[in-house]
Amino acid sequence: MMMQAHADLKTLNTFGISARAAVLVMIGKPAELNELAAMPGFETRDWRVLGGGSNVLLTGDIHKPVVRIAIPGMKVIETHGNEVIVEAGSGIVWHKFVMWTLKNGFFGLENLSLIPGTVGASPIQNIGAYGVELVDVFNSLDAWDIRSGLIRTFTTDDCAFSYRDSVFKHEAKDRFIITKVRFKLSTVPSLKLDYGTIRAELASLKISSPTPLDVSAAVVNIRRSKLPDPADIGNAGSFFKNPTIPQSHYDSLKGNFPDMPGYPSDAGIKVPAGWLIEQAGWKGYRDGHIGVHAKQALVLVNYGAANGSDLVELATNIRDDVMRNYGIDIHPEVNIW
Ligand code: EPU
Repeated sequence: MMMQAHADLKTLNTFGISARAAVLVMIGKPAELNELAAMPGFETRDWRVLGGGSNVLLTGDIHKPVVRIAIPGMKVIETHGNEVIVEAGSGIVWHKFVMWTLKNGFFGLENLSLIPGTVGASPIQNIGAYGVELVDVFNSLDAWDIRSGLIRTFTTDDCAFSYRDSVFKHEAKDRFIITKVRFKLSTVPSLKLDYGTIRAELASLKISSPTPLDVSAAVVNIRRSKLPDPADIGNAGSFFKNPTIPQSHYDSLKGNFPDMPGYPSDAGIKVPAGWLIEQAGWKGYRDGHIGVHAKQALVLVNYGAANGSDLVELATNIRDDVMRNYGIDIHPEVNIW
């Protein structure tokens, strides 16, 4: 394993925020977690775990050891008829994994193309895009139990997935380090084309009988047109989750805001936070190094040398405005450290 003292985390978080870790440890194999736990200074196992750094906002230096998971590997572990179970190390970059599955003819992840981050982070917030969520293709995962030092396997039920949520944000928070994730894919395509502008994008590419690779290319185009590339402008994708409000609240708001979109969900009506933030006047806002992306109001951005606390203050101001205008509380999707 590699270790570095006073490490700058700027290149390890997609917001591109400069902050130092007292010590940064790179883990390349699950067994190294046990080796680390036996080393002087690490026995308390009170560590911060970093994957691709695409869903975190750093607000200052980190005094606990920062453990970056870089566990590699992608392989088929089982096939039953059309079904294929593939396994990936938690350190694999998500989009690289999606492309590997598609090139091998294993379908199901095409709508989740180009989501930033690593395989290991994907179950924590049950990543989702364009009508597909991780739970739809999940098989199981292995995680290192920080207390016992043993590997535990989690099934779909154990993970308690819901919208941008799982057990790893609640009871299991800070108790496990995900080491491997397994997915249930198919050798027979089953395309999901109904969300948003996928069909329109395929039409503009002049594709009438799309393959999963075509759907992936359409999703990549749509994402590139709306979401800033962290290599150019620091960001962590959607900063807020889309709120769900009771039908009665939605109906009363519709009287004043007839254009307000809303999608029925289990607990009520899901309202796009991007719409609320745009209507509150924040889309394209900029103050020095911080701002709200001009093409997608759900994305907060770092134009260069922002610090995390300024972004937290901006998020608070946006949240307060949305509450004042619509009586809706919006919550960050991003983890604030
Ligand atoms: N909208 C606006 N203004 C905006 C942004 C959105 O009015 O600036 C409204 C429009 O009515 C649009 C609707 O919001 O029709 C939905 O917008 P979009 O399809 O872009 O999706 P989203 O709800 O803004 C969610 C995910 C994204 C994911 C897209 C596509 C969350 C928090 N975000 O965004 O995920 O890529 O759907 O499926 O659920 C991420 O989690 O980091 C992320 C980028």
